[in-house]
Amino acid sequence: MDSILVKGGGALNGVIPIAGAKNACLTLMPATLLSEEPLTLTNAPRLSDIATMTQLLQSLGAEVASLQNGLVLAMSSHKLDNHTADYEIVRKFRASILVLGPLLARDGHAVVSLPGGCAIGARPVDLHLKALEAMGAELDLRDGYVHAKAPGGRLRGAVVEFPFVSVGATENALLAATLAKGTTVLKNAAREPEIVDLAVCLRRMGAQIEGEGTSTITIQGVDRLGGATHPVVTDRIELGTYMLLPAICGGEVECLGGRIDLVGAFAEKLDAAGVSVENTERGLKVSRKNGRVKAVDVVTEPFPGFPTDLQAQMMALLCTADGTSVLEEKIFENRFMHAPELARMGAKIDVHGGHATVTGVERLRGARVMATDLRASVSLILAGLAAEGETVVSRVYHLDRGYERVEEKLRGVGAQIERIAG
Ligand code: EPZ
Repeated sequence: MDSILVKGGGALNGVIPIAGAKNACLTLMPATLLSEEPLTLTNAPRLSDIATMTQLLQSLGAEVASLQNGLVLAMSSHKLDNHTADYEIVRKFRASILVLGPLLARDGHAVVSLPGGCAIGARPVDLHLKALEAMGAELDLRDGYVHAKAPGGRLRGAVVEFPFVSVGATENALLAATLAKGTTVLKNAAREPEIVDLAVCLRRMGAQIEGEGTSTITIQGVDRLGGATHPVVTDRIELGTYMLLPAICGGEVECLGGRIDLVGAFAEKLDAAGVSVENTERGLKVSRKNGRVKAVDVVTEPFPGFPTDLQAQMMALLCTADGTSVLEEKIFENRFMHAPELARMGAKIDVHGGHATVTGVERLRGARVMATDLRASVSLILAGLAAEGETVVSRVYHLDRGYERVEEKLRGVGAQIERIAG
């Protein structure tokens, strides 16, 4: 298994291009299953999760071609000859459950392996299933698979009220509702930019959707969807991660393609910590206002709140802040696994249930640490870049799921980082 070696200590300066969003692309790709005509995504990120979704769609009979060095995904689902999403692919990533709604909506039947739990929490899919049941699906859970059928071959519109906000369940229901008979209203829907991007793409394909970006989305089902070309929205989590570089190391970094509306709550916390974020013609420019950053408290929440996917990286910053910060994780029950690894680098962190109290130290020290999930991995790299000496992050395969060309992008702003093949 590969490791990443980071030599810390220097300020970082320059520009970093931000890729298309992994989590948008993973929900846009299954939209191809809804139509017999081609769907082309541009600005796709080059990541291992995208390769796995490609493999899953191909296993169902879709054609997926990766063009322009992976930046363009040309997909076509003219004929689907398999309606079973196999455990061997599904177990690799949880977004695979997003093929359930489209398969069911298009052909009236699907068998999809239940994704397992993962390092950050149990992550059940009950809300996805309840939404589809409300739309008339008959579900049978056996042998680790969801066997789903739509009576008469077609889902029907329904009012679905989610008991709490779920990004994935909103996406699955939205995908499915586009081809259902009648009107579907999704209440307490997720408002993430990835949902908005999905609705925009589906509308380009001919879907009738209103209200995306608010907590009520209304979908008028249509008989068929056509083809479309759609650019994947900027990855707000990659953006936020790289905005932290000058905050944690000093210097000035411009994130190309960055938009403040994608990272509002996060940018407010940076401002309170003493980090300046400026709009430029090409993106966002970030630098520290004065010397050391100040402690701030953070609570993770669904969009537009502070994203759970930036909590680990923010913790890395707060490890060297002046004062004590409290981070509260409200989305996932086990998302502080980076804390003991950061502690190996000299951070002072006390985790108690869903809270972590971080008392800033003047300087972190390099150490050997282990990545436990995607965002934890990158938080250790950020900490390593700020630390004195060398840090080796092992198990970096997690990183390749969500950050494309990470060493190249970081070297571009002056970071000393290299991959050690394992
Ligand atoms: C998406 O996961 C993202 N993944 C996650 O990105 C992100 O952390 C999360 O949204 C929250 O923003 C993708 O888009 C592929 P949820 P998702 O359904 O859809 C519980 C990353 O690092 N829940 O909004 O799975 C669930 O366990 C990641 O890129 C149920 O109980 O998240 C969690 O506690 C990891 N039943 C909460 O809801 C359900 O049926 C929110 O999960 C569904 C969810």
